[in-house]
Order: sequence, then structure tokens, then C-alpha cells
Amino acid sequence: MRPLEYSDGVLKLLDQTKLPLEQVTVECRTYEEVAASIRDMIVRGAPAIGVTAAYGIAIGALAISTNSKEEFTNQLEEICNTIRNTRPTAVNLFWAIERVYKSALDNMDKPIAEIKEKVLEEAIRMDNEDVENNWAIGQNGSKLIKDNFTILTHCNAGALATCDYGTALGVIRAAHEAGKNIDVYADETRPYLQGARLTAWELMQEGIPVTLICDNMAGHFMKSGKINCVIVGADRIALNGDTANKIGTYSVAVLAHENKIPFYVAAPLSTIDFSIESGESIPIEERKALEVTQIMGVQIAPHGVKVANPSFDVTPNRYITAIITEKGIVYPPFAENIKKLKL
Ligand code: MRU
Repeated sequence: MRPLEYSDGVLKLLDQTKLPLEQVTVECRTYEEVAASIRDMIVRGAPAIGVTAAYGIAIGALAISTNSKEEFTNQLEEICNTIRNTRPTAVNLFWAIERVYKSALDNMDKPIAEIKEKVLEEAIRMDNEDVENNWAIGQNGSKLIKDNFTILTHCNAGALATCDYGTALGVIRAAHEAGKNIDVYADETRPYLQGARLTAWELMQEGIPVTLICDNMAGHFMKSGKINCVIVGADRIALNGDTANKIGTYSVAVLAHENKIPFYVAAPLSTIDFSIESGESIPIEERKALEVTQIMGVQIAPHGVKVANPSFDVTPNRYITAIITEKGIVYPPFAENIKKLKL
């Protein structure tokens, strides 16, 4: 299941604002359209946002019409800035922009037409790498899943949030593919309902048993012994292991700790921000009040009520049992062991 597909100057995105009721594809032909698709969450999930940004820059670069390298670089920077200002929390966005921009800078001695090709090649490489990394995360994480496990997940860290296969759902997929009998409890994930709309749909498409619960039911099921482990994705991981993920993840982690249930984060290295020591430096996106006062366009709260809508929270490293990456499983002390991943 691929949420994004590039071909011939067009990026096709599966519109995740419409799932699961409608399967509609949005076609982006300009970098501005790509930026809007990230901002409006037509595409979402940290790794998918990163690769979409890379394709957006490639689409923008291909459309630059100049013979001057200085002018080309200026316009490329402007494209990068537009895409940079879409969503602030997932570090994959900034990682992808830097990587694609660098591929242009590294090839500045070549003709402009060739630089454009290099930028596109880099985006395609990142797309392919993401799928390989997710598969590796799945293989590594699958070892932690025993037969007859019931796994709780929050938000959607599946194929829809990546270029394919998924991170947290990649682990679940790999365990299922290995023939293990597993069951998934999916938090609905208010306010945007990524769990109800996307995770439930994605797992049902794959034939993986899934039970949808409201967010406030998680503690009940943990306490009653139903849940064997929790696996979530991540938007940004600090050097000490503190992890930003969808709002509500922190509550789930505290509940897991209280109930002595392992809490795993599954994420590629592109989600680790090697420039920040702790989660305190992670910017948290604040989204529109309408996401809280309405559900799928239906008003559920009094008009004019004051609303807070942080889209992510930070789970302190002490609640995280392990971080599953494409390079292996990282255990505490994270401050020592995460650094080793960069070598
Ligand atoms: O606001 P979203 O839907 O982009 O948030 C997505 C998440 O929080 C995911 O858990 C995270 O990006 C990991 S996706 C593999």
C-alpha cells in the first residue's frame, strides 16, 4: 500500500483526509501543491512527509527556468523554504530537505539540467530507502512479538505514514507475515482520528485482526491484562531517547509503565534528531481549533469555546523500553546508545 507515487513530474497522493470512506488520489504538479498537501495532511506521518517533501523539491527544481546557477540556487532555496514552513514537528521533513538540497549543491559543477536530475534521483533514492528501512524495522521488531500477543498502537505509523510497509505497523506486519497469531488494539486517536480512520482501515485491508478502541479505554485494557506490549511510531527522537509522537502517546506510555507493559517506539534513523539533547527542544505543532470542536465536519462543541490542540506530545525516555530501528533494537541508556547509531 503506497500513499505516494511519483512519475513524470507528477506526485500522486492518496488523500488521507478522505479515508476510509473514499479512496481519492490528489495529483501535485507544482511544489506549492506539494507543500499544501503536507500542510493540509493529505499526506501525513513523518517518513511520508519527508519523502513527499523531497519529491516536492524535485518537482520545483525541474520547473526552474534559468541558465544562471546563482538564480537556480536562489529559487531552489525559496522552494525549500516554502516546504520547510509546512509542519514543524516531524524531523524527517527537515532531514529530507537538507539531503535533497545537498544533492544539488554537491553537483553545482554540472549543467543545470543535470543538477535537476540529481535532485530527482535523490528523492527516488529516499523513497526506495524508506521502504527498505521499514522492512528492516519490521524484521528487527518482530523478534519482540510473541505468538498470541495483543499489541496496542496509537495514531497511524503504517504504510500510509511511510512510503510502504510502515514502522510500528511494519513490526506488526512482519510478525503477522511470520505466521504469529497476533491481535492489534488501535486507539482512535482524537482529534484527527488517524487510528480509527487509517490504522483500522490499513490493518483490515491486510487481514490483520484489529479492534478499535477510544483513547480513554487504553488504561482499562492494560489493567485487565489484555495488552502484551505497545508499539508506536515517532515524529522526532532526541539524543536521550525522548520521543515526540502523536498527542496522547505520552498518556499511553505512562499507562504502560504503570501496568508493567513494554512500550516500544519504532522509527527509522531519519526520525532521530542528532542535533538535540532532549525532548525539550522539540517544537510542538498547534493545529486548528476546528479539529477539536468538530468531528468530520460535524460541530460537537459550543460555538466559540476556547480550544487547545497540540498535535504531538513528548514521551520521556524513562517510559520507553526500546527503540526499534533499521539498524537494530536500541535499549537504554539511550543517551549512550543512540549516538552509536550515527557511526
Ligand atoms: O499528524 P500526523 O498524522 O502526521 O502524525 C503522525 C504520527 O504521529 C505518527 O505516529 C508518526 O509520524 C510516525 S509515522 C511512521
